[in-house]
Amino acid sequence: MKPSSSLQKRLGLGLTLGTTLLWLAATVGAWLVVQHELNEAFDSALEETAQRILPLAVLEISNRENPSEAQHVATLKMHKEYLTYLVRDAKGEILMQSHDANPKIFNQQPAEGFSTTKKYRLYGASALRETVFIEIAEPLEHRREAAREALLALLLPLLALIPISLFGTWMFVRISLRSVLAYRRAVEARGVGDLSPIHVARLPAEIAPLAEAVNHLLERLRKALETERSFTANSAHELRTPLAATLAQIQRLHHEAPEGPLRLRAAKIETSLRELTRLSEKLMQLAKAEGGGLLSETPEDLIPLLAHVVDEWNHNSGHRIELHLPTQTSVYSTIDPDAFAILLRNLIENALKYGAADQPVEVSLTDQALLRVVNGGPPVPEPVLQRLTERFVRGNSETSGSGLGLAIAKTIVQGVNAKIRLVSPATGRTDGFEVCVWFALASTVEG
Ligand SMILES: Nc1ncnc2c1ncn2[C@@H]1O[C@H](COP(=O)(O)OP(=O)(O)O)[C@@H](O)[C@H]1O
Ligand SMILES: [Mg+2]
Repeated sequence: MKPSSSLQKRLGLGLTLGTTLLWLAATVGAWLVVQHELNEAFDSALEETAQRILPLAVLEISNRENPSEAQHVATLKMHKEYLTYLVRDAKGEILMQSHDANPKIFNQQPAEGFSTTKKYRLYGASALRETVFIEIAEPLEHRREAAREALLALLLPLLALIPISLFGTWMFVRISLRSVLAYRRAVEARGVGDLSPIHVARLPAEIAPLAEAVNHLLERLRKALETERSFTANSAHELRTPLAATLAQIQRLHHEAPEGPLRLRAAKIETSLRELTRLSEKLMQLAKAEGGGLLSETPEDLIPLLAHVVDEWNHNSGHRIELHLPTQTSVYSTIDPDAFAILLRNLIENALKYGAADQPVEVSLTDQALLRVVNGGPPVPEPVLQRLTERFVRGNSETSGSGLGLAIAKTIVQGVNAKIRLVSPATGRTDGFEVCVWFALASTVEG
C-alpha cells in the first residue's frame, strides 16, 4: 500500500503553488503593459524635444553668416548629456550638434520618424521642406533600467507574499480540517471494548456520511458481538444448575458405592464434572470481560481490593502469598472492583498452580499502580510465553486447566486501558514467572 499523503499538505502546497503561478503570470502581464506604456512616454518626450529644438536650430542657422559651417552648441556648464542631437542638411552635412553628440551613433542619412539601433532610440524630424533635419538620440540603457526597476517593484512584494500565502493557506486548511482531526482523535481514544457511536460536531459534508457509515458499522458489530457474548454467558449460566445437581448426585454415588472399581469410576466422573464447572465459570468470566463495562465511574482504591483478594487466597492456600504494598496509602485507578478481583484471582491461581510449591508467591503493587505477581519454578521459553495470553493456549499439559485464565486477564487489562507483560525468568532471578500489569493512575478529588 502506498503511504497515504496528507490532505492538509496537498491542499496547502497545491493552493499556494497555484496562486503563486497565477500571480507570476499576472506580474509578467502587468510588466509587459508597463513597459509598453513607458516606451510610449519616452518616445513622446523624445518627439517633443525634437519639435522644440528644431525651430530654434533653424533660426540660429539662418542667422549665421556661413550657414553650412558646423557648429557645436556651447554649454553653459559642463555636464553629461542624456539626449544628444544632430542638425544636418538633406545630404547629411552636419550643421549643428549638441556638445556631447557622437555622429557615429546616428543614421548615415538623416531620416524622419523613430528608429532603433543597438544602443539608441532615434527620432528624426525635418523643417524647411526637408532641407534641415534634426535627429535626437536617447540611450536605450535608460529605458531598460526603468523596465528592470518596474519588474523588481512588481516582483519584490511577491517574495514576501508567497510565505504569507503559504502560511495563510496552511492555517486555513488546518482550521477547516479541525473537525476531521477531532474525529480521528475520537476514534483513536476509544478503548478496545468501546463500540458506541462516535459523535463529532460540524463534520464537513464530505466526511459526515463516512462517519455515519462507520457508526452503522459499529452498531452492527456491537450487536453481533453482544449476541455472541450473551450466548456464551447464557450457556455457561444455564449449565451451572444441571452441573451442580449432577455433581451432588455423583458425590452421593461416590459415598454410597462400595470400595472397588465403581467407586473409582464415580471419583473420576466427579473430577471431570468439577473441571467442567470450572470451565463454565471461566467462560462466564471471559464473557463478562469481553462485555465491556470494566471501567468504574469513580476511581477505585486498589489497595483494599488487593488485600481482600490476597487474604481470601491465603486463607485457602496455607499462607503462601506475600503481599507488598506501596508506601502511599492509596492507589487509585478507574477499574471495576469485580473485574479487578477476577483479574487478580486468575493471576494468583496460576502462580499457586504452576509456581514451585516450596517458594512463596509475591504479589506487589507500587505507587505508580504497577501490579506484579511473581512465582518460582522453571522458566517458560520465550516463544511459548508469547502465546500464553491467547484463548485455550496452555503451556503445561500435565495439570488440568482450560487455557482461559491469561486470556481473561488480557481482555480485562485491555478493557481498562492498562498494559500487561509476561516475563520469564522473573526480573532479577534465573527462574520463575512474572506478570506485570500497569494500570492507568486516576487523579482523585483530593489529589
Ligand atoms: N504463574 C505461572 N507460572 C508458570 N506458568 C504459568 C503461570 N501462569 C500461566 N502459566 C502458563 O500459561 C498457561 C496458560 O495459563 P492460563 O491461561 O491461566 O490457562 P490454564 O491455567 O487454564 O492452563 C498455563 O498452562 C501455564 O503453562
Ligand atoms: Mg489459569
